[in-house]
Amino acid sequence: MSETTFTPGPDSARDFRDALGCYGTGVTVVTTMSPDGPMGMTANSFASVSLDPALVLWSPAKTSRRHTIFANASHFAIHIMAEDQDALARHFAQQGDGFGAVDWHLSEENLPILDGCLARFECATDAVHDGGDHSIIVGRVIRAAHRPGRGLIFKQGQYGGFLGRDA
Ligand SMILES: Cc1cc2nc3c(=O)[nH]c(=O)nc-3n(C[C@H](O)[C@H](O)[C@H](O)COP(=O)(O)O)c2cc1C
Repeated sequence: MSETTFTPGPDSARDFRDALGCYGTGVTVVTTMSPDGPMGMTANSFASVSLDPALVLWSPAKTSRRHTIFANASHFAIHIMAEDQDALARHFAQQGDGFGAVDWHLSEENLPILDGCLARFECATDAVHDGGDHSIIVGRVIRAAHRPGRGLIFKQGQYGGFLGRDA
């Protein structure tokens, strides 16, 4: 198969997305409490930033109807999806306020916490940086949790599992 080479621009948006999609990621659902109630959003832009202090980041698109809520939130929670939680990821990709259909509870900081995830980072917003058509939200982790299990993977537009091999 031949290689496609391009300079990212309006005419090559599809190719740019396809190239980025070659990088497999985990899948998260980020939640916060909005003035209208709990809000969630599926995101694969999550990354670890710093161990000490404990910092993580994710990037909501400025075009998202949920952007303002997340960019202004004092706290948010990042949930790492387990391998069997693709339905939850699909749900919060479509509907930000759909908490009626899922199991969740409120944290001490009034954050909506989704039950049954593989890991969780409860954060206080540390900084919101400009990142082109996205914002880069950096969170200081105030509480974290994890359990044994396998994580959900997203690559080239598809959900899947992790094929573990020795490094
Ligand atoms: C696997 C996956 C990862 C996603 N990651 C992000 C992300 O990191 N940032 C983002 O802004 N939207 C991301 N989205 C899109 C949002 O989940 C959601 O579909 C979008 O915000 C919908 O637009 P709305 O907020 O205007 O309703 C992702 C969607 C999927 C399925």
